[in-house]
Amino acid sequence: MSPSSTVGSALSVLTTSGETGSRLAFGCDYNPEQWDPAVWAEDIRLMREAGVTIVAINVFGWAQIQPGPDVFDFSGLDAIIGLLHGAGIGINLGTGTASPPPWLSTRHPEILPVDADGIRAWPGGRQAYCPSSPVFRAAAERLATEVATRYGSHPAVQLWHVSNELGCHNAHCYCDVSAGAFRDWLRARYETLDGLNAAWGTAFWSQRYGAWEEVLPPRRTLSAGNPTQALDFARFSSDEVLECYRVEERVLRRLTTVPVTTNFMVTAHIRTQDYWQWAPHMDVIANDHYLDHRLPDPHQELSFAADTTRGLAEGGPWLLMEQATGAVNWQPRNIAKTPGELMRNTFAHVARGADGVCFFQWRASAQGTEKFHSALLPHAGTDSRKWQEVLELSRALGSVRELAGTRVVAEAALIFSWEAWWATDLDSHPSEELRYLEQTHAMYRALWEAGITVDVVKPGADLSGYRLVVVPSLYLVRDAEAKAVTDFVADGGTAVITFFSGIVDEDDRVRLGGYPGAFTTLLGLHVDEFFPLAAGGSVALDDGATGTMWSENIVPGTAEVLVAFEDGPLPGSPAVTRNAFGRGSAWYVGTAVDRPHLSGLLVRAAQEAGVAIPADHADGVESVLRRGPDADYRFYINHTDAARTVGAAGLELLTGAAVDGMELPPGAVRVVKTRREN
Ligand code: GAL
Repeated sequence: MSPSSTVGSALSVLTTSGETGSRLAFGCDYNPEQWDPAVWAEDIRLMREAGVTIVAINVFGWAQIQPGPDVFDFSGLDAIIGLLHGAGIGINLGTGTASPPPWLSTRHPEILPVDADGIRAWPGGRQAYCPSSPVFRAAAERLATEVATRYGSHPAVQLWHVSNELGCHNAHCYCDVSAGAFRDWLRARYETLDGLNAAWGTAFWSQRYGAWEEVLPPRRTLSAGNPTQALDFARFSSDEVLECYRVEERVLRRLTTVPVTTNFMVTAHIRTQDYWQWAPHMDVIANDHYLDHRLPDPHQELSFAADTTRGLAEGGPWLLMEQATGAVNWQPRNIAKTPGELMRNTFAHVARGADGVCFFQWRASAQGTEKFHSALLPHAGTDSRKWQEVLELSRALGSVRELAGTRVVAEAALIFSWEAWWATDLDSHPSEELRYLEQTHAMYRALWEAGITVDVVKPGADLSGYRLVVVPSLYLVRDAEAKAVTDFVADGGTAVITFFSGIVDEDDRVRLGGYPGAFTTLLGLHVDEFFPLAAGGSVALDDGATGTMWSENIVPGTAEVLVAFEDGPLPGSPAVTRNAFGRGSAWYVGTAVDRPHLSGLLVRAAQEAGVAIPADHADGVESVLRRGPDADYRFYINHTDAARTVGAAGLELLTGAAVDGMELPPGAVRVVKTRREN
């Protein structure tokens, strides 16, 4: 099966049912090896009761199914697969390579990863391997071959789950094997040492390389290191982890026709993988999402992650491979979900394009580091609030089963780049407070609060289908990527670009002639100096807004000044501008504007662009539209503890009531179906 073009259709294997026509997949990770086989029959019975359609097994199965270098024992896995198949439950089969067993790292300690200080990790946790290790890759390839050969044509196997969250713990390895692989990668990129020296700017600080052997990964240095070396190492590391996936992918495609995927972790947790590069190799785009309670608004971050996942699926349906029913075990404070939150979280993913919702995990572990992680079946068993919530959620997903295959409607796009993220967050920049993801989240939250749904797209994407494009702090941008934004505006679009965008090229080389070099013509201005604020500092703007962290000296050319700084280092000089360009306009924001004002500004730009903002948009209510062949489905998720009134008319699918405007109770979820005349 060829990847990427089949993204939607591969997922339909999971969302098509003989009994109901379409359905949303509902499932979980299942780790039966942690339990006495006497428990398995009860598991299967309860899975059926809960309406589970797919389970991921053998994700951490390596030590069970290959207890020694030349010993394979599939008896346990055979039994589980047989039980699931007998119950009509589909299988998302792990290749089992996520965590090398102790015998492998004991025989081959060289596979253990090394950090930037040269310290080798010990086994005993999980995922302790160097992604470039040929020994590890060969062992994983062998296991994947055994598993694919044995189960590749089993009728219950619907999906391949390669490894697990690749790069979660081990993306960056600095060992000598990695150093060699890094040099090979650099040779392929630059061909000659002259090319590398030019790209890395090694004329600075006497860093010029005279032989390839001198080139190293960015190991610990006394002073700040070379930024382009660090950026290339980030790119290399993403490519190396992707290659671990591809080694197994090739095996699976050779031996079976079952769709292949792995679970991403977009974007709060795994930051090291450029998933734009990964997506074309997946038959199904799958994401794991856990609320991060260290963030100010975890549910808005959830929406951003879901929209980014849909972007990776090129707007098509995707699979939520893991979320938690309640608390996780790995945050400083593991906050439980309040009543109704599980429903809201799940429907936020579905609203934003998920055609299936799965959980980590089926039964809460009794042992191991994750024993206090929530599950579908908690330690308390079925006599629990959690179990009732799970049943209720499953019923709710059943009532919206016709959503499978429908697509989210968005007229605005947000450009997101992992490369720019890595480059922005390097050291020795104007302000250490400028963090790419925070700026992206700030922009996204402002759009969310204004009720504007966005597609998250990669730099250089075709923007012609959008009216509004927002570009938060896109520090690193290639010429062609900047041109895509410029052409979009010239053709009549509206762009909103924020500070510290367009500063460097792909080698982290400053674009000269005034910032933001890649966008000065489009924006009709240049910036001649940055004026970041002191810690905790703020500036007043003359429209009543407050700016934090950043200010800069904007010298307008053709741009009109919309808002000026009122105090701070640059009183009276421009803070927000707008430039008529071609048939469109380009707005520029030169400081971190407070949330309400940023939202207001985006609403103005959206209105100018002709983006439809729902007339019934209500404060704190997440409202998203999915569109099917002959009906629209409007989601309403009330994240507040007050009732809200919304205007949709049609059939509300969760309650089965015909509505013509309705009150949304506090915390409630509703999905209103409206037939469309085509
Ligand atoms: C995921 C992982 C699962 C489990 C879960 C706990 O990152 O894929 O195996 O560890 O986190 O939240």
